[in-house]
Amino acid sequence: MTKIVNFGLIGTGGIGAYHRAAIETHAEAGLAKLVAVADPTIGEDKIAEFRSKGIHWHADYREMLDQETLDAVVIATPIPFHLEMTKACLARGLFVNLEKPPVPLLGQLEELIAADPRNTVNVGFQMIGAASTQALKRLISEGLLGKILSIRAAGCWPRLDGYYGRARWAGKMSIDGAPIFDGPATNALAHVIHTIMYCAGETHDTFSVPSEVTGELYRARRIESYDTACLKGRFPSDIAFSLAVTHATENKFPFSIQVKGTLGSATLSEDGARLESSVGVSLDREESTQQLLDINYTEFLKVLSGERARFPSTLRDTRGYVETTNAILLSSGGIHDIPMEFIREYRQGEEAGFDVTGLREAVLESLSNGRLFSAQGCSWAIGNPAPISLPLDSTTPLPGLT
Ligand SMILES: NC(=O)c1ccc[n+]([C@@H]2O[C@H](COP(=O)([O-])OP(=O)(O)OC[C@H]3O[C@@H](n4cnc5c(N)ncnc54)[C@H](O)[C@@H]3O)[C@@H](O)[C@H]2O)c1
Repeated sequence: MTKIVNFGLIGTGGIGAYHRAAIETHAEAGLAKLVAVADPTIGEDKIAEFRSKGIHWHADYREMLDQETLDAVVIATPIPFHLEMTKACLARGLFVNLEKPPVPLLGQLEELIAADPRNTVNVGFQMIGAASTQALKRLISEGLLGKILSIRAAGCWPRLDGYYGRARWAGKMSIDGAPIFDGPATNALAHVIHTIMYCAGETHDTFSVPSEVTGELYRARRIESYDTACLKGRFPSDIAFSLAVTHATENKFPFSIQVKGTLGSATLSEDGARLESSVGVSLDREESTQQLLDINYTEFLKVLSGERARFPSTLRDTRGYVETTNAILLSSGGIHDIPMEFIREYRQGEEAGFDVTGLREAVLESLSNGRLFSAQGCSWAIGNPAPISLPLDSTTPLPGLT
């Protein structure tokens, strides 16, 4: 008989609600049980609702870890809590399903990797489990595209006042001394960078770490962090890669990842819903966040039951993502203000957003040729980035973050 995995959930609002639903779906299949939750901010109604279902509520996650009998813990809390909460779970020998991004700093990731010698932490980059991502990686790992030459990605996801007003940590570099580094490349579209690392990985399950990264970070909205980023780099296998992402356009461009090889090419588009290729393989399957989280839990539980050898994304697998994002900040020399003359404010109902002159076109140009905004000659792109060699020394101070 399969053992029922007892879960504790830290953080019940936001994405935590999707985690709860995924656990409940697997509970119906007799594979999981939500035993307890920890969240200091929820109201009496919600606490009563949990209690009515026999789910114990704790204000403090440490109390939950001390008092409950758990097999695994889900950490679905804001980024600045990830480090201490993951360490606390690992110290108690628990499996962890940690929301992406794992932690902002390379030094923090190395600390967690050292504390997790058995790879018991899964990082919830759920796009890796998408049918389209898996089909793309099969084209690569089975050699149908030949030797991979380049991986280029881009996306414009406009974000309005409400996005930045929804949480104290939104748009911040740090809070109370805890690093956050919130922004499109490091939060909303972080999946895209991690997927690039996956596409460059030598075997079907593995990820690569670049050998060099050059990048630029900008802000149109006058937040502490950035809302616009571009980067280019190279993997040790000589694959070139690039990314351009922003929250500062009025019109959306769903994210797209293009892979070119010596024998063919493939494109993941429409925020990962569509795969097209020159080698006869295509797929059109939109999967919701909930569906992707459900898949992530199915794979997570397979590891605990011994049916699968490794989690889809271990802490070690996220090294490429963390090294790359840390390197962009170093390369960019901090975050540059886009001059006001290039920024137009637009409104949608009560909320305002910002649109930078020519930015959407620059993002699309980066997708086609991998050039940084400054190299494209964008008038507002005042950055003068330096190439950064990886691996980074994790003690190197990052501008605005340490
Ligand atoms: N995988 C995805 O598609 C996806 C989507 C959105 C967010 N995220 C990630 O999920 C994480 C949480 O993001 P969010 O937008 O849901 O955050 P949020 O600000 O909405 O907070 C989530 C929950 O955590 C709770 N919380 C805050 N501090 C806590 C503490 N000390 N102890 C216990 N609970 C606490 C909050 O009360 C809230 O219920 C972030 O890492 C974010 O990047 C992932």
